[in-house]
Amino acid sequence: MKNALIVLLATALVIVLGIYGYMWLGMYDMGADSPHWRMTVSMLTMMRERSIEMHAASVRVPRDLDDPAVILKGAGQYAAMCTGCHLAPGITDSEIRPGLYPQPPNLSEVRVDPREAFWVIKHGIKMSAMPAWGFSHDDATIWSMVAFVRKLPGMTPGEYRAIVAKAPPDEDMGPMDHGAPDGATPEGNRGEGMAAMPGMKMPGMKMPGMKMPGMKMPAASAAASGERR
Ligand code: HEC
Repeated sequence: MKNALIVLLATALVIVLGIYGYMWLGMYDMGADSPHWRMTVSMLTMMRERSIEMHAASVRVPRDLDDPAVILKGAGQYAAMCTGCHLAPGITDSEIRPGLYPQPPNLSEVRVDPREAFWVIKHGIKMSAMPAWGFSHDDATIWSMVAFVRKLPGMTPGEYRAIVAKAPPDEDMGPMDHGAPDGATPEGNRGEGMAAMPGMKMPGMKMPGMKMPGMKMPAASAAASGERR
């Protein structure tokens, strides 16, 4: 009996050391282009789905998700930040998407649960490309993204372009990424959220002291969205 226990413990130790050694020796292929084993995928999927379900259970959905103004605000957010990974009606590919692992869902085809969508957008998903937008966006803005994403499936490319063209500018980014003032090329400027990013990085764009005519300052926009809560 005692011997059996020792053998069991020794075996467990060898297994743990073996796994640690495998990791330390760098044998694991961390490349995003080498897929997981099927067992790893099913474990990760179960863990992600259960985690999101549990954490989203206490999220309270606001009543104004069908408010056209909220949806319109979300359209601007989505076009500026999400299409590179999640596509949109009429945007069927991007440069970043083929290389992402896990693949982001095509949100113009997938219906999301509002609680879970809110939680995922705010907190992101570890070890995936999904960022935690809660660091740079307040809850009201994140809810506007949820409101818009709910309307995406079934939207035609024309409807998508029209709503994005009407949407208020994305306050967090300044006017640069909204392209032609007449909205002449909505896909070119807004469809490629990732491509638009170099423009945002212009030195001084976010400097609080800088006042450019017509430019919304981060402080002002934070106050404005605070009032909406
Ligand atoms: C750099 C790529 C990237 C960007 C940008 C991005 N996401 Fe994601 N997103 C992902 C990935 C990858 C997943 C899936 C992660 C997984 O499967 O574990 C995901 C998952 C989601 C989900 C969960 C979908 C579901 O089926 O439950 C939602 C909702 C979502 N993203 C919304 C957004 C919104 C809104 C934005 C813009 C504000 C955004 N994402 C920007 C990569 C991205």
